[in-house]
Amino acid sequence: MNSQAHHFAHSTDDTPNGTATRSSWSRPRRVHIHDVAMRDGLQIEPVFVPSERKIALINALGRTGVSKIEATSFTSPKAIPALRDAEEVMNGIDRVPGVKYAVLVPNLKGAERAMLCKADEINLVMSASQTHNLANLRMTREQSARSLLQIIDVAAGQVDVNISISTAFGCPMEGVVAPEEVIRLGDRFAERRVRGITLCDTTGMANPAQVEALCAGLTERWKGLEITLHFHNTRGMGLANVIAGLAVGIDRYDSSLAGLGGCPYAPGATGNICTEDLAHMLDSMGMETGARLDALIACAMQMAEMVGHDVPGQVMKAGAWDKRFPAPPDLEQTRERALIRELEAGTSQ
Ligand code: COA
Ligand code: ZN
Repeated sequence: MNSQAHHFAHSTDDTPNGTATRSSWSRPRRVHIHDVAMRDGLQIEPVFVPSERKIALINALGRTGVSKIEATSFTSPKAIPALRDAEEVMNGIDRVPGVKYAVLVPNLKGAERAMLCKADEINLVMSASQTHNLANLRMTREQSARSLLQIIDVAAGQVDVNISISTAFGCPMEGVVAPEEVIRLGDRFAERRVRGITLCDTTGMANPAQVEALCAGLTERWKGLEITLHFHNTRGMGLANVIAGLAVGIDRYDSSLAGLGGCPYAPGATGNICTEDLAHMLDSMGMETGARLDALIACAMQMAEMVGHDVPGQVMKAGAWDKRFPAPPDLEQTRERALIRELEAGTSQ
């Protein structure tokens, strides 16, 4: 692929793609991209990527301008064998200033391991639906909630704590998840010393109307907390859901290089929304992410090579919107023919 195509040289007036005068999106807004490929992306891959390769990619990703990198998970190595090298990875990476290095944690043992490795943030996870919580974490929702609340009491002050609520927009086994329950669960954590809350659409069941309905008012209700949305593109609604989230003021999004991702304990799970596709969309709309598309695409290519199969990312294949293709070689003749037809039509009138 021609890498020269992947820079955001905006059209002549240096405005985003057609948004200058007629769109409510034309005001630049800062949107934070959290890349979760090294965790959500790799946890479902059958291959074990060697630690050195993971470290090299995290180091490259740290220099792309993303705000946060979820670098690995401190889960049971039996549950998630692909990430059994969490310590090696966390102890081997460069910490790029300004980038937050987060890790997924399901229980106290995971929190202890993460803190020993000096993670910047522990991302505590549980599900909004009972069935997925049991399948994924082998605990009831209440057991998980109590365990996470205990971890917050121990850890807050020493490390930033984020709470990720899985299946917040639907459960692949139970179906509809009541929005009031999701909000009530979030409230229990919001009252404690957490830095942020992430609502996760674990298997891509959310639609934009639902995102708007669930998330409207959240920035007020959980004022002072960082609110993040985590979408999977299982049914092609991922970026549309981001637009719905932006419309209700949410400015943090999880996404994954090359569009990899999925929970091995959620039937039908597929990839997250794709980091470079998200960065490309936001940039072309005139929003600021701080991320460089060229660098993200290079990382996505590296990721695709590491997992050794076709990946869902689209911009890495298509190039950015401002990529130009040559016109057909016979365009001059075609133009002449068209003009002659116009003249002939004129004389015959
Ligand atoms: N890190 C490493 N090992 C862990 C661990 C952790 N965070 N938590 C538990 N273990 C180990 C225990 O030490 C024990 O080891 P042993 O058999 O050698 O004694 C074993 O795992 C079982 O411990 P237990 O507490 O009974 O765990 P469990 O079998 O009930 O599993 C979880 C619970 C949460 C650890 C496991 O289900 C898990 O890691 N789930 C994560 C799933 C995930 O990441 N999904 C995708 C992200 S949404
Ligand atoms: Zn996910």
